[in-house]
Amino acid sequence: SAAEKGGYDYFMLKEIAEQPKAVADTLLGRVDASGSLTLDEVRIAPGALREVDKVVVVACGTAFHAGLIAKYAIEHWTRIPCEVELASEFRYRDPILDAQTLVIAISQSGETMDTLMALRHAREQGAKVLAVCNTNGSTIPRESDAVLYTHAGPEVAVASTKAFLTQLVACYLVALYLGQVRGTKWGDEIRAVVRDLSRIAEDVEQVLETMEPVRELARSLASKNTVLFLGRHVGYPVALEGALKLKELAYMHAEGFAAGELKHGPIALIEEDLPVVVVVPSPKGRSVLHDKIVSNIQEIRARGARTIVIAEEGDETVVPYADHLIRIPATPVLLQPLVATVPLQVFACELATARGNEVDQPRNLAKSVTVE
Ligand code: AGP
Repeated sequence: SAAEKGGYDYFMLKEIAEQPKAVADTLLGRVDASGSLTLDEVRIAPGALREVDKVVVVACGTAFHAGLIAKYAIEHWTRIPCEVELASEFRYRDPILDAQTLVIAISQSGETMDTLMALRHAREQGAKVLAVCNTNGSTIPRESDAVLYTHAGPEVAVASTKAFLTQLVACYLVALYLGQVRGTKWGDEIRAVVRDLSRIAEDVEQVLETMEPVRELARSLASKNTVLFLGRHVGYPVALEGALKLKELAYMHAEGFAAGELKHGPIALIEEDLPVVVVVPSPKGRSVLHDKIVSNIQEIRARGARTIVIAEEGDETVVPYADHLIRIPATPVLLQPLVATVPLQVFACELATARGNEVDQPRNLAKSVTVE
């Protein structure tokens, strides 16, 4: 009913709008005033966490994209090797797991059969499993050694939005906590990022307030067949997520690429007026990547692409090459997906509406996939 949707036309719009709160709620009670993480609820003893020598993330769909981003954070802040695998592939290749392996199973519903089977396999091999889940008491957390709940609240729309942002927050918390427990050299950076995380809900709010041009752009592309998404570093999984949203909702051919791969094949797809969304990394910190992606934008534009550029406020280098410029607030490099994903959600939702599709219940899809 309209009341359930809180005055919005679709649950998806309501859930997109709830993201600042979902993010804040997922941080609540997990960070103390001194900027230290208090994740005692993760009932894996600090001693056991110090012995972890490999992290493996398993998940499906949007949750898998959260896992891909988690890898950058985990490896950077903990120096523990991290693999990310589609849950549906995991157990079929005889993965190497033992008691020092921490498996992180990410699932909004907690009922995804592929993810459940992956975690069962991991536990049979003696690995410890931490669930990152949005649904209290669901099967995946019940069968895991520990759980960190995301506090997105119920997500009704089939296309995941607020659950994704909270999965990212939970993964950052796990990465930072592992770093804190293991005392890596990134101590100061960890404390600084924890402080930045506490402000990130406001950044998400700010993005939401500036989405009208994105909606307008989406409507103008309603008759297109293809949209490509490019990103690098943590922007690469964001590109994959943007493409998945568009497939699910707009039923358009959408593909995400790592921008560095462009020259190895995908650039052949570029033709006159093809919309290409580019997620530009922060110019600070990883400035080499930033400059490389700016050259990618120039290259595809020279070949006729219509460039839709998502870039940090104050990043002026992209201006001459952007047919459409979507601004996001500056964040620490690894946290950028929390703000960069939001315009892509809005974009897909608006395109679906413009194409007359059912936003909350896309064809052929179920909210939770309880078969393998
Ligand atoms: C997201 O928009 C999708 N509907 C889908 O990919 C989903 O993320 C995937 O099926 C995993 O679901 P889960 O998080 O409930 O395990």
